[in-house]
Amino acid sequence: MTNLKGKNLISITDYTKDEYIQILDLAKEFEANPKQPLLGDKVVASIFFEPSTRTRLSFESAANMLEARVIGFSNPAATSLQKGESLHDTIQMVSSYSDIIVMRHPRDGAARYAAEVASVPVINAGDGANQHPTQCMLDLYSIRKTQGTLDNLNITMVGDLKYGRTVHSLVQAMCNFKATFHFVSPKELEMPESVKRHVQDAGLKYKEYTNLEDVIPFSDIIYMTRIQKERFSDPMEYEKVKDCYVLDAATLKGCKDNMRVLHPLPRVNEIAMDVDKTPYAYYFQQAQNGVYVRQALMAAILGVKQLKN
Ligand code: CP
Repeated sequence: MTNLKGKNLISITDYTKDEYIQILDLAKEFEANPKQPLLGDKVVASIFFEPSTRTRLSFESAANMLEARVIGFSNPAATSLQKGESLHDTIQMVSSYSDIIVMRHPRDGAARYAAEVASVPVINAGDGANQHPTQCMLDLYSIRKTQGTLDNLNITMVGDLKYGRTVHSLVQAMCNFKATFHFVSPKELEMPESVKRHVQDAGLKYKEYTNLEDVIPFSDIIYMTRIQKERFSDPMEYEKVKDCYVLDAATLKGCKDNMRVLHPLPRVNEIAMDVDKTPYAYYFQQAQNGVYVRQALMAAILGVKQLKN
């Protein structure tokens, strides 16, 4: 039995391969039976310093289905941060009101800092361009569910690989499963050297491309990402690359039958609407899987469920 009680989740590398698999197994149990009175005596703080639809609402939905009370904010402008209160003091206060903190913040490293200050466990719901470990867990869940395995897959990632925290976390996690990586991006938005080094250090291969059509025939997963306007300091740089990849149904001709298109969402126009009707589209189910994975994480970290070896 693995015990995650009281453990933070800040980076996907905080957990082991065995723990990923055990969390996915627990999430599968929640998918079969999502409404359980497991967290009736718990308070979940959901504090979002940056916009979110899926992460915040799926965490809150997950908590509600387990009968936890949820407190928090989605608009930091309505908190005492506006009066100059520090992140340190905010976290200290929130940890005295709750049993667990789910936090999104625009600054890289803010979640790690919050975990050092908090007296309750912290789950990182995305920190700047750094990490999005719970998205990564639901991506793993979606890959395993659609491919029947996590091992030896051709994983293609497309778009903003420089600022995309979801792809950084997913590469690190998939290095445990002997993936071969294909990175498709404009030169300006290439995968960071640190992430590529992680692949090399794991003894695995990656290849870089600028042309999306080149990767269609052999990919098991095509993971599309949005070009993130909010991460560019120069709007002209964003304008140069904003529509660089648009995946449509015609582009998918010749793909593997079991290939699935994932996207952390929101999409802007990098996946055409005609893909939604193809058997390859999986991004909306992927987002739904987030509820079960987040139930599993909260139940394990709050100590009401043990992970099974
Ligand atoms: N995938 C994801 O993080 O979406 P939101 O920004 O809507 O939470």
